[in-house]
Amino acid sequence: EGGLNKKDWILMVTAQSPTNIAVIKYWGKRDETLILPINDSISVTLDPNHLCTTTTVAVSPSFDSDQMWLNGKEISLSGSRYQSCLREIRSRANDVEDEEKGIFIKKEDWENLHLHIASFNNFPTAAGLASSAAGFACLVYSLAKLMNVKEEQGKLSAIARQGSGSACRSLFGGFVKWAMGNVRLISKDTNGSDSIAVQLANEMHWDDLVIIIAVVSSRQKETSSTTGMRESVETSPLLHYRSKEVVPKRILQMEEAIKTRDFTSFASLACADSNQFHAVCLDTSPPIFYMNDTSHRQVLFSCLQDGSQLLIINYMEKWNRFEAMPQVAYTFDAGPNAVLIAPNRKVATLLIQRLLFYFPPSSDTELSSFVLGDKSILKDAGIGSMKDVEVLPPPAEIKDNIPSQKFRGDVSYFICTRPGKGPTLFADESQTLLDTKTGLPK
Ligand code: DP6
Repeated sequence: EGGLNKKDWILMVTAQSPTNIAVIKYWGKRDETLILPINDSISVTLDPNHLCTTTTVAVSPSFDSDQMWLNGKEISLSGSRYQSCLREIRSRANDVEDEEKGIFIKKEDWENLHLHIASFNNFPTAAGLASSAAGFACLVYSLAKLMNVKEEQGKLSAIARQGSGSACRSLFGGFVKWAMGNVRLISKDTNGSDSIAVQLANEMHWDDLVIIIAVVSSRQKETSSTTGMRESVETSPLLHYRSKEVVPKRILQMEEAIKTRDFTSFASLACADSNQFHAVCLDTSPPIFYMNDTSHRQVLFSCLQDGSQLLIINYMEKWNRFEAMPQVAYTFDAGPNAVLIAPNRKVATLLIQRLLFYFPPSSDTELSSFVLGDKSILKDAGIGSMKDVEVLPPPAEIKDNIPSQKFRGDVSYFICTRPGKGPTLFADESQTLLDTKTGLPK
């Protein structure tokens, strides 16, 4: 009884994967299909409690084709990146037995069995918060579990990498390095299998860090990372100088800063690397502006007091100078959102007070929808409601340098988070995104 003759069984697995933010950026590929980068990169994995993708993958002889739903809407799996991940995972599948359900799938059967995949982000996809990193990491991780793939996590990261480069770093928690791999090794016989993610330190290593993401209101559609970096590789001389001369040294320094929890070095390296990445974008022809229009107009007119995220940088630099050492690190990806990293709760408390002072919400927004994630930092800051935000005193250290101008509505919301763990499996069947009877989205 059972097995492939009986057609009504469904086997499924649900997993959760974190997103990550690079502190030494990946920008530029040496191989577009395999997604091999031109330099190493380093990231911090963000706590999946606040930002993550959940994915259920299911297999059944009753499924007619591979199908996927993202946030409840069906999406096409025909793209080469999905196809690469599915092909690579399927080719490593093993025998799977579920005695309770009377299911036995032979290694060879996987080639002929179809999959249903449902994926859900616990944060707005439109916010531009690297949803593809968490998404592809979760897809590969959950499929590997379903198909009893025995490869170690590093090997899985090389598969996730073929979905989206930055996704390989989401296979681990804490601090992660994506090693570019040996340039000479790539030939017809090799497949860039040495371009993998490795964990530098787990999420417990430096758990004082507090991460605040400012989701900046943006009207324009940004150039995708994939397109942007292709154009940079083709046209930016600065990018080639960066990948050869700057990043190799910075990677070593950043590894050391993380190992020794040297926040001063960590912050200056992260800020410098973000700034150089955006300088590369400006060095690309035609130039790419990720930090939004308002901000760039400010750069051109050498007027740094306006434009929210530029102000965030300018303000951080001022604060950092005031405190005589870098207090808060900032980094920006291919979009206008600021990711701010504070060394501890004390600094994070001062930071959130200042952020809320300068960037209050536009209308009568509730505090609970303006500050998301770990709200305990608000408590520390003595902020319990929007009323408290409105009466925040101007930050002392900049009273006479900066007019206490507010940038109301320039930030849509903040997310408070911290370094977090890597992918995890859900044992509980109630958490599945697909119906256990029909295999369709719930
Ligand atoms: C600026 O991983 O999204 O976030 O490999 O083409 O899918 P593809 O690009 P993607 O690029 C991320 C670029 C970045 C920097 C980083 O995460 O390292």
